[in-house]
Amino acid sequence: MSDMECTKKKTTAKNTREVTNLTPEEQHDDKTRAGVSETWEQIWADGLEPGQRFDARGPAPILKHLLDTNALPKGRALVPGCGRAYAPLEFARHGYQTLGVDLAHTAVKAAQEFVDSVEDKPKEGLLELRAANFFELEGQFDVIYDYTFLCALHPNAREKWAAQMHKLLAPQGELVTLIFPIVEKEGGPPYAMSMDLVKSLLEPLGFTATTLEMLPDDMCHRGREERTALGRWVKK
Ligand SMILES: C[S@@+](CC[C@H](N)C(=O)[O-])C[C@H]1O[C@@H](n2cnc3c(N)ncnc32)[C@H](O)[C@@H]1O
Repeated sequence: MSDMECTKKKTTAKNTREVTNLTPEEQHDDKTRAGVSETWEQIWADGLEPGQRFDARGPAPILKHLLDTNALPKGRALVPGCGRAYAPLEFARHGYQTLGVDLAHTAVKAAQEFVDSVEDKPKEGLLELRAANFFELEGQFDVIYDYTFLCALHPNAREKWAAQMHKLLAPQGELVTLIFPIVEKEGGPPYAMSMDLVKSLLEPLGFTATTLEMLPDDMCHRGREERTALGRWVKK
């Protein structure tokens, strides 16, 4: 073995030891900071029922409005952190080739059960639900819809969120962000959101807002009025 190989091996072994020397709590924190917290799997595996915690029992009224009025580009839609898949189901019902992803396998199981239980199903083959990490996704989408996904991520993962949105959005595509919860508070999830925060993440990458405004009450989920804003973003 050459000296160089030997040094390399020693360094790798040292790095491995350093990583494995982390306490489970520290390792968990590392993942959380990278936007892949294992807490989500626990939350879903504990049996999150419709209406509990962040589950709002259905798609946001503004999403239905945007889809019903054909306001968004047509084609492929992505919903990251889709939970019980209320939004992906709505996109697929409106003819989009839709991918809903959630990090938690048990979330995808709950989503599949929900989709199987509804009467108004989308056309065969339009809706795919996948247990996956948003940060590892590949492909291009004409619409990406973020609702209570950014607020679920550790603040350290936000720039990576913006870069990944930029990578996944097709050149003529649109990123729709429902910005929630607009509150003043420390810690999370959900972490406090604001229109300025989302703007500060997206504009440096070349996104421009075509809409950035608070939503009227009837376009918000009940109980989320005056705390929800709509951002519609295109690439320059
Ligand atoms: C606050 S919940 C919102 C769920 C859904 N958007 C809704 O409105 O009901 C956030 C979701 O994001 C998922 N999630 C967290 N990190 C993720 C990641 N890196 N990739 C994909 N999904 C993730 C969680 O498992 C969780 O279901």
